[in-house]
Amino acid sequence: MKEFSKVAMVAAFLSTAVSAGALHAQTAEVLHWWTSGGEQAALGEVRKAFEAQGGTWVDTPIAGGGNARAAAVNRMLGGDPAAVFQFSIGQQLRELADQGLLANVDQIATEEHWDDKLPPLIVKAAKYDGEYIAAPINIHGENWMFYNKEAFEKAGVDVPKTWPEFMTAAKKLQDAGIIPIGLGGQPWQERIMFNSVLLGVGGRDFYAKLYSTLDDDLLASDTMREVFETFAKLKPFVDESSPGRNWNEATNMVIKGDAAVQFMGDWAKGEIIAAGVEPGTTVGCSLAPAKDTAYIMTVDAFAFSAMDGQDPTPAQAKMAHVMLEPDVQIAFNKKKGSIPARLDVPSDSFDACAQLAIKTLQDEKTHLVSTGLFGVPSAVSGAIDDSISNFWNSADMSAAEGQEQFRQAISYAK
Ligand code: BGC
Repeated sequence: MKEFSKVAMVAAFLSTAVSAGALHAQTAEVLHWWTSGGEQAALGEVRKAFEAQGGTWVDTPIAGGGNARAAAVNRMLGGDPAAVFQFSIGQQLRELADQGLLANVDQIATEEHWDDKLPPLIVKAAKYDGEYIAAPINIHGENWMFYNKEAFEKAGVDVPKTWPEFMTAAKKLQDAGIIPIGLGGQPWQERIMFNSVLLGVGGRDFYAKLYSTLDDDLLASDTMREVFETFAKLKPFVDESSPGRNWNEATNMVIKGDAAVQFMGDWAKGEIIAAGVEPGTTVGCSLAPAKDTAYIMTVDAFAFSAMDGQDPTPAQAKMAHVMLEPDVQIAFNKKKGSIPARLDVPSDSFDACAQLAIKTLQDEKTHLVSTGLFGVPSAVSGAIDDSISNFWNSADMSAAEGQEQFRQAISYAK
């Protein structure tokens, strides 16, 4: 081979190696649990933007939040982390940071002034030791009641505003041959319904105090007894096929009118939208019955595994940038059913339910945090879900026994 062509070959090899390196630097594996139709459509908007900016997205969907989070953590511990993984901001993400498992994206957050663009509660919960450990993408509310309007018309009842009204309406819906509550029988879904009852019966100050203090007297209080009694009264309004049902199947029951309501986070709205229904039309949304207005928030975010120390890789930094871009926040959230985490993006094109969420959150007194991932340590969160599910699924446990089991589970875990 002539000297000249050897040089050319080496040069060609080097340039391929360099571009492969550059390509690799822009590649991120994204591990998430957004597997439903609405969720995939929404995530597709982030992916599209990331790819348009030169990123390569390796998709790792894992059905079920619990499974996906366990997989993300196991892979970090096993030394084969996914670069980017879905989580929620709050106490449980900080537990991962505490173990040194996360990269921080504070530099990009500082350059892009996230502190000025996100609400203070989100700024605080997305940081560990004063530095951003996640890119928040939305605000979801968990205390929604989605309802089929025709079902209510058929039964001749109005949409209930209190739990006693709900019981009366549910009986009439049942008499009209409609399943009153479409419930996905999984612990986290049962807890979402329970927390709506807790908020409705106890009020927002009680909810906030109970979960921020985990105080024994509050757990043992008469108010808590009433919460368990009210929750138990919902049992006859759920159909037999509830156990194990996925949340999006329950949403579908409401869209079709087989069930009248679903108590669920507004990701249910993502399914409604994906089914071609404009939220607020045939499927209505209101906050679950309650004496005062409040919003139980959960904030979806993507966190970044420490790949090589705590500095993010170029692909991780690009992802953090993309997730906070105004266009992405709008396109993603319109499909997801949530509202943007950023306060400064225009929200006038959002649907009627999102407008209600935005209006509600203008009053800071409405701000409550979910016990899923946001507001309590993981051990407490697990104890809450398990004991509620145990109570819900035990035919012969009294409200008093359910309350006592809940109190004990929380006091052991805290
Ligand atoms: C997340 C939502 C998601 C839902 C169901 C929640 O934990 O915050 O974004 O749609 O799980 O998958």
